[in-house]
Amino acid sequence: MSSFKQIVELIADDLTAVETKLTEQTASEYSFVDMAVQHVVEGGGKRLRPILVVLSAKACGYEGNDAHTLAAVVELIHVASLVHDDVLDEAAIRRGRETLQTKWGNKVAVLVGDYLHARVLSMLVARRADDPAMAILADTTQAMCEGEVIHAYKSGDFDISEDEYLKIISFKTGKLIAASCTLGAHLGTTDKQRLEAITNYGQHIGTAFQIVDDVLDFTEDTDKLGKNAFGDLREGKLTFPIIYARSLCNADEKQTLERVLNPNTDEAAAIAFVESLFQRYSVEAHCLKVAQGYADHAKAALAALTETPARRALEQLADYVVARES
Ligand code: IPE
Ligand code: IPE
Ligand code: MG
Ligand code: MG
Repeated sequence: MSSFKQIVELIADDLTAVETKLTEQTASEYSFVDMAVQHVVEGGGKRLRPILVVLSAKACGYEGNDAHTLAAVVELIHVASLVHDDVLDEAAIRRGRETLQTKWGNKVAVLVGDYLHARVLSMLVARRADDPAMAILADTTQAMCEGEVIHAYKSGDFDISEDEYLKIISFKTGKLIAASCTLGAHLGTTDKQRLEAITNYGQHIGTAFQIVDDVLDFTEDTDKLGKNAFGDLREGKLTFPIIYARSLCNADEKQTLERVLNPNTDEAAAIAFVESLFQRYSVEAHCLKVAQGYADHAKAALAALTETPARRALEQLADYVVARES
């Protein structure tokens, strides 16, 4: 059995409770609203962020049920970001289903994303007024949006550096993954050193996660991914593997790369060219090595926590983020 499955089994009851929360807390009395919302809230995703909330809470000694609400909250922020991301990226498939804008248009997709954020606010307000989750999630949502905006702004800039890109993904993906860990940890501890350690862990696996997501876009098929393979390429999006490959290209290759990274070029030719660069410069191996470096840093950060099954599961999760195929 894969380690991811084992981790899911370890916390199966918690994850069932999170699913119930997700459905209950997003239900709308208006049937079309409900249909559109449940289309994206229902299963299909890995539920990585809820898993991190639950495990981080356990790893810091918390055993109560409040982790389920926070786990549902971070998943809803994530789902809202995917709904909006698919509008930006003009993506047709997500979690093996048609995206909202494919089914019902951009307007519905934008509004469903907003609806989910509104539900998040009321779920948080229903908790305690002195809740640190409010500030953490307000900052996180803002940073995610900033990351997506900067990425969109830089989308045509072929000179974007690896460092600039890493900074963008630490915002658009790393922040929410880190917040999932911090929120869980807050339930079990007020110790600054432990909180910092687990936030660092989340930030590092977040970066690894996005690098691997970028690689999978080129190496896995649509069925397995549940979203369109070569979607980034089709979009002309500069992602980690492309930025790395470009840094090794000669002048001719750079020119061709810029030409094929254009949504109007022939897709088969674009794929063939990029695949040839992947081969020539061992791009996949390099990217996975960089991602593993982040995963190793993440695991090292956990040394500040007591050795427990939950800490062990978090360590395994760091390796899963790099080894995963979808
Ligand atoms: C996709 O996230 C968006 C990124 C941050 C790369 P996931 O790969 O966690 O998506 P789901 O939740 O499993 O669908
Ligand atoms: C991550 O970026 C999106 C967010 C953090 C909102 P991607 O555009 O790479 O995500 P996918 O590949 O569409 O899932
Ligand atoms: Mg996308
Ligand atoms: Mg992607």
